[in-house]
Amino acid sequence: MKRTNTKLKPAVKPDLQIAKPTKTVKYNDIDLNAWRDYEHVKTDTLWEFPTRSREGGHSNEYHGNFIPQIAQQLYERFTKKGDIVLDLFFGSGTSGIEAVNMGRRCIGVELKQEQAEHVEQKFTPEQRVTDVRTICADSASIEGKEKVQEALDILGKESGKDKAQLLILHPPYDDIIKFSDKKEDLSNCASTEDFYELFGKVAKNGYDLLEKGRYAALIIGDKYANSQHIPLGFGCMAKMNELGFITKAIIIKDMQGNERAKGKTANLWRYRALAGGFYIFKHEYVMLFQKV
Ligand SMILES: C[S@@+](CC[C@H](N)C(=O)[O-])C[C@H]1O[C@@H](n2cnc3c(N)ncnc32)[C@H](O)[C@@H]1O
Repeated sequence: MKRTNTKLKPAVKPDLQIAKPTKTVKYNDIDLNAWRDYEHVKTDTLWEFPTRSREGGHSNEYHGNFIPQIAQQLYERFTKKGDIVLDLFFGSGTSGIEAVNMGRRCIGVELKQEQAEHVEQKFTPEQRVTDVRTICADSASIEGKEKVQEALDILGKESGKDKAQLLILHPPYDDIIKFSDKKEDLSNCASTEDFYELFGKVAKNGYDLLEKGRYAALIIGDKYANSQHIPLGFGCMAKMNELGFITKAIIIKDMQGNERAKGKTANLWRYRALAGGFYIFKHEYVMLFQKV
């Protein structure tokens, strides 16, 4: 008969246990030795969020904003605490609010003066100095780039870094939502070709202002015009690749949780889709790139 050893192993006193050292990659704080503790962090290419998060200072006041969960996921995977996020289409400042909530910093550029001023008010005077810089400028311009560089020089002084650690690009989806009448506005281009060209200029500024080895996120949806699917996402992805960014992921994000996308006109669109031989968009993209 096999004898079982009933002797109990002496319990190790907690204070004598040797803590495992943390193991992280260069661009985030996820401890790979405790990777099972990060269940909330996504690693797959299908993102579904049933509702828009309204906690932590977010509101849904701006038509065309992204849901805060996108920023949360990106910051977990592609930033460290204290890192600087550069958002070249700041809109209502979702990326800035989430940066403050998660101990990151942010520089946001927005073309519309009144919108930039409105976003500024979301942050305390102290946060405006140390955490979030709002710049009113055309992100495709040299002046816009210089203003960002000035802000980077100030925010990065302590760490000795003069580049951003994550780039966020959430441009207008061509002319689907018109944000202003300004000629520099990407939602106001005469053609989709012009939209791609202007997007390329913004992306080039972003590339130059981003630290090597770091990530860029492009959030974009496609459009349907003249009985054709216009793949804006893939068009912009090609522009990113031309600049030297390598593609790391193409994530499909279910946009039904965006709320505003839940239209009352669902039946009308269903009829149109059946009659016109097309499909109704229920997704947008979160495309990830790395500057190598
Ligand atoms: C899709 S929205 C971004 C929304 C933002 N992610 C948020 O959560 O609120 C695009 C924004 O880009 C701005 N924009 C358009 N062209 C621009 C340009 N050339 N430079 C800077 N901002 C621009 C628009 O005014 C608009 O606020």
